Amino acid sequence: MKTKILVTGGTGYIGSHTAVSLIESGYEVVLIDNLSNSSKETVVGIQEITGTKPKLEVVDLTYKKQCADVFAKHNDAKGLIHFAALKAVGESVKRPLQYYYNNLSSLMNTLECTVDNQINNFIFSSSATVYGKPDNVPISEDFEMKRPFSPYGNSKKIAEEIMEDFIVSNDSLSIISLRYFNPIGAHESGIIGELPTGTPNNLMPYITQVAAGVREKLLVFGNDYPTRDGTPIRDYIHVVDLAEAHLKALKRLLDRENEKTMEVFNLGSGKGYTVLEIIHAFEKVSGKQLNYEVTARREGDVPELISLPDLANIKLQWKAKRDLSEMVKSAWEWEKKIRTKVNGE
Ligand code: NAD
Ligand code: UFG
Repeated sequence: MKTKILVTGGTGYIGSHTAVSLIESGYEVVLIDNLSNSSKETVVGIQEITGTKPKLEVVDLTYKKQCADVFAKHNDAKGLIHFAALKAVGESVKRPLQYYYNNLSSLMNTLECTVDNQINNFIFSSSATVYGKPDNVPISEDFEMKRPFSPYGNSKKIAEEIMEDFIVSNDSLSIISLRYFNPIGAHESGIIGELPTGTPNNLMPYITQVAAGVREKLLVFGNDYPTRDGTPIRDYIHVVDLAEAHLKALKRLLDRENEKTMEVFNLGSGKGYTVLEIIHAFEKVSGKQLNYEVTARREGDVPELISLPDLANIKLQWKAKRDLSEMVKSAWEWEKKIRTKVNGE
């Protein structure tokens, strides 16, 4: 019998790539999502890639009863990966309560239902945003968590604190919190990828939309940072590498190899690229010149975020394998595929 794993937020960007990796590794996957930022069509994409159609439960995890019912139905699951959250930084500044409510009540309901059904192995999607503006780089897990610059970011910091408190009186539960740096790219098939609704907040989808003619030009937010070309440095990680890290974390929990009931790992490549380097990498891969203009800094941006991924490399036996050109190429292939669909070609 296959080991059943619940994946909340499973029709989303990172959840769908992780579902593919899970299915390819022989797990039975149940996706739980309210489709607020994704589409049920993703299930078809997952099936096209893997040959297996995962079950989709359309549930809003902020509703305790919906959450309890779906967990009771799948109480033979052995683990859960909790991706479900709202994630738009700018929107969270405008609607802080919506972000705190959605991200924290869905986490609390999910934690409670997990324990009530003895599922016991819990993986959480955290973010490098919990380091705020770090004093130096690279960032290791023992760096202090600082107040993030947005309600979204703060919901991740508070989520980690909630889990730390919860685990104290629930010793059958084990948690791994994964702090992602900057996930980009798409599955090599071009069948699944990131589907930003409205204007993208993030650099990579913005670049591909400009190149595809959906937007006129990219605004580069500031070139007066203390970095090699004045633009901010980030640690970009291929979404498929990220998905593979979740499998390693899950195996660690299922094999009882975790050293503490709650462990935290950075997921990054350990390498940093500036905004201009990303633009140039894109131009090289696509053969297109990107229309961009340098403008004022964006509020809340920090000059440099680079992970020290040693802990994940050693304890999870995981390393980011895909390089920048693969990340950029897969993002571009995905964008072209979406445009073909949208334009009905
Ligand atoms: P996404 O929006 O593509 O996926 C999140 C999914 O959760 C969506 O399908 C959405 O419909 C679902 N969802 C939201 N609220 C829900 C609720 N109350 N009940 C049920 N489903 C709900 O985002 P993503 O990029 O795949 O991110 C996945 C996780 O990783 C999120 O927790 C996000 O905060 C975290 N993260 C993402 C990034 C990034 O840059 N993409 C970086 C760091 C951390
Ligand atoms: N940028 C631009 N123009 C744009 C978009 C972004 O110049 O149109 C720049 C930003 O100023 C930043 C860099 O590109 O210097 C990367 O910006 P992103 O918005 O792509 O990513 P962030 O580093 O700001 O944030 C991302 C996720 C957050 C997560 C954080 C953790 O969006 O959810 O990484 O590192 F918390």
